[in-house]
Amino acid sequence: MWWANKFLNVKEKKLYLGDKDATKVAKAHGTPLYVYSKTQILSNFSALLKAFTGKTSLEIKLYYAMKANPHQEILKILKEAGACIDAVSPGEVAEALRAGFSADRIFFTGTSVSAEDLKLVFDQDDLIVNIDAVEQLELMKEVRERWFKHKKIKVAVRWNPGIGRGFNSKVVTAGEKTYDGMPIKFGVEEKKVIQTFARASQYGFTPAGLHYHLGSGWTRQDFEAVKDAVDKMIQKASEVQKQGFSLEFLDFGGGFGPRYSSDQEKFSVKEYVEYICQKIKKSNLGIKTIAMEPGKYLVGDAGVLLVKVEYLKKSYENLFACVNAGTFNTVPRPAIYSGAYHHIVNCSHINYGKKELITVAGNLCETGDVFGKEIEMPVPKRGDILAVLCAGAYCKSMASNFNLREIPKEIII
Ligand SMILES: Cc1ncc(COP(=O)(O)O)c(C=O)c1O
Repeated sequence: MWWANKFLNVKEKKLYLGDKDATKVAKAHGTPLYVYSKTQILSNFSALLKAFTGKTSLEIKLYYAMKANPHQEILKILKEAGACIDAVSPGEVAEALRAGFSADRIFFTGTSVSAEDLKLVFDQDDLIVNIDAVEQLELMKEVRERWFKHKKIKVAVRWNPGIGRGFNSKVVTAGEKTYDGMPIKFGVEEKKVIQTFARASQYGFTPAGLHYHLGSGWTRQDFEAVKDAVDKMIQKASEVQKQGFSLEFLDFGGGFGPRYSSDQEKFSVKEYVEYICQKIKKSNLGIKTIAMEPGKYLVGDAGVLLVKVEYLKKSYENLFACVNAGTFNTVPRPAIYSGAYHHIVNCSHINYGKKELITVAGNLCETGDVFGKEIEMPVPKRGDILAVLCAGAYCKSMASNFNLREIPKEIII
């Protein structure tokens, strides 16, 4: 199976989650249910670190983009493994601290931040604050002068290199406009980067890094554009240093992840890392650290959602498997992003029996509430357990109580 990993495997035509029969897990804990795998999360983390081995002598910092899945146990697992945290709100900072991360392992990248947000993050000693706009510095200055006058606060600049990539317009986070014309709100435009560092220094902040995040859900097709962005990053960092602002680190954001479908050509993280290391080596930039902010990559394929088929329904030649969960409450991505796909398997008979085109429909009052539209799969029976794959990232964290349906329980095995 193209999706098999250390968490998901098939034994006697049944889905196993680690060493556990998925149908038995569903029976023991009830459905709908999120199941996450510690082994897979750790395997993803070490695979990314390993990609750097022998490629650079610089320090590597992996900031987990906890918006992907802020489950306390997952944060603790990654903390023990040596990860740092990319937090985007005071709430995320508080959860990271609760999981035991010290503030110097947290990087705060907020957008449209308020004085209240800044007060909370400045209060944490050694937390690095990422600046999203030169205009944001006026607010930062006011908060600093009022409450943190003599405090050393390290900052980075999130810049927008004019190149953005993502699987859907809504998650392209750099460039001028998205594929469908939405103005992109993130980052400091190229010509204002030096000015932002200059003003930050003038206001008493300590420049420490340069950062970008281009977007999410890259495939092989995005590689060339991403390489161009790496080149621009190195060039910009060199300009920043020439202007007298020293940089400790370059942060290349996130964006790469697991495969969501068999026909998706995987973005090669290994080649990406190799490219970054090679370019930095040639540049003589004199930085200390290379940073990245993986979200999906670390937890996406380390989670599934288990749901139960309540009944099959046929209407106008459409065959539906009606399940006991709603997308908005569990795996909202297919309902939010056109083109988002989560592979679905029948836990008790993988690839077995007659296949038909089946729409896996949820229990919400919304036509778009489908986990999978006309997917070719063996016809399930009433009571069968289906697993919606790649449910470790941006599922629970984006789920709502729409229709007053509960968000499912989560377990880690
Ligand atoms: C600033 C920043 N860094 C990292 C990420 C992680 O992206 P991904 O999960 O695609 O790796 C995001 C996602 O939105 C982000 O906004």
